[in-house]
Amino acid sequence: MTQHGPHQPSAPDEEPWWITNYRGSAYVERYGSHDAATTERDVDFLVSRLGLRTGHTILDLCCAFARHTRELTRRGYGRTTGVDLSQDMLRHAAATAEAAGERLSLLHADVRDLPLDDGHADAALLLFNSFGFLDTPEEDLDVLREAHRVLRAGGRFAMDHFTPHPNTIAMGSRSVRSGNAHTAQDVTWDPVSRRLNRETTTTYGDGTTETSYSSVRLYTPDELTGMLQAAGFRIDAQLSGYDGRPLSADSSRHLVLAHRP
Ligand SMILES: C[S@@+](CC[C@H](N)C(=O)[O-])C[C@H]1O[C@@H](n2cnc3c(N)ncnc32)[C@H](O)[C@@H]1O
Repeated sequence: MTQHGPHQPSAPDEEPWWITNYRGSAYVERYGSHDAATTERDVDFLVSRLGLRTGHTILDLCCAFARHTRELTRRGYGRTTGVDLSQDMLRHAAATAEAAGERLSLLHADVRDLPLDDGHADAALLLFNSFGFLDTPEEDLDVLREAHRVLRAGGRFAMDHFTPHPNTIAMGSRSVRSGNAHTAQDVTWDPVSRRLNRETTTTYGDGTTETSYSSVRLYTPDELTGMLQAAGFRIDAQLSGYDGRPLSADSSRHLVLAHRP
């Protein structure tokens, strides 16, 4: 069921927004136009700053349509796996890769309960605002604990998330046109729950529309690094993005590099 309005924890028989929002093709319509150059830049940065090697086992957690998994795999990081809970996202990723004649390793799993052994991976990624989804900070922390569990000692971790910067929490409407659809988003910020709530209406070329809803809790950089430390990570660097600029009071994004000691 699609939810509307301010975020309420889901009733036990109701699907949460982080399932319904990634069903169908609306997310791909809204964000699928990430240009290849952006993903290439992200991967250049991650390879260099995390010291990735082609033999490394790399997990792209919450991969969506697997743009980073694909780019890493193309570059020879052949033990990269994209993990996501949305079958539609994984199907889209697999179909795009197959059409391009590329091999792709994908895993359908919940990032809170990965079917992987302790210490399985050399690196784990949680990119592009794939955090703050759950009802409570304690549940969000479980995601970081699980990422920590599946990394070997010395394994590297990178995540990037919005900060509660005035530009991010500015309320209002935003719209984007992609190849096949027009997407309109109504953004509201709830300063009490500190959730960024977005209602997205996607109108396709044939006139059909689809509405979905997301609600992401935004953490300050101090809160986020505190959670990473509580999950067992050591922080290596905090930046404002993939161009390597340092984090400042004016950063609207927070890119954290960490490792499992
Ligand atoms: C913002 S998108 C990810 C964007 C992607 N990392 C990128 O850089 O393009 C968030 C993704 O998290 C997935 N997701 C949400 N909750 C999840 C969970 N508990 N386990 C696994 N995937 C989850 C959604 O299906 C969605 O594809």
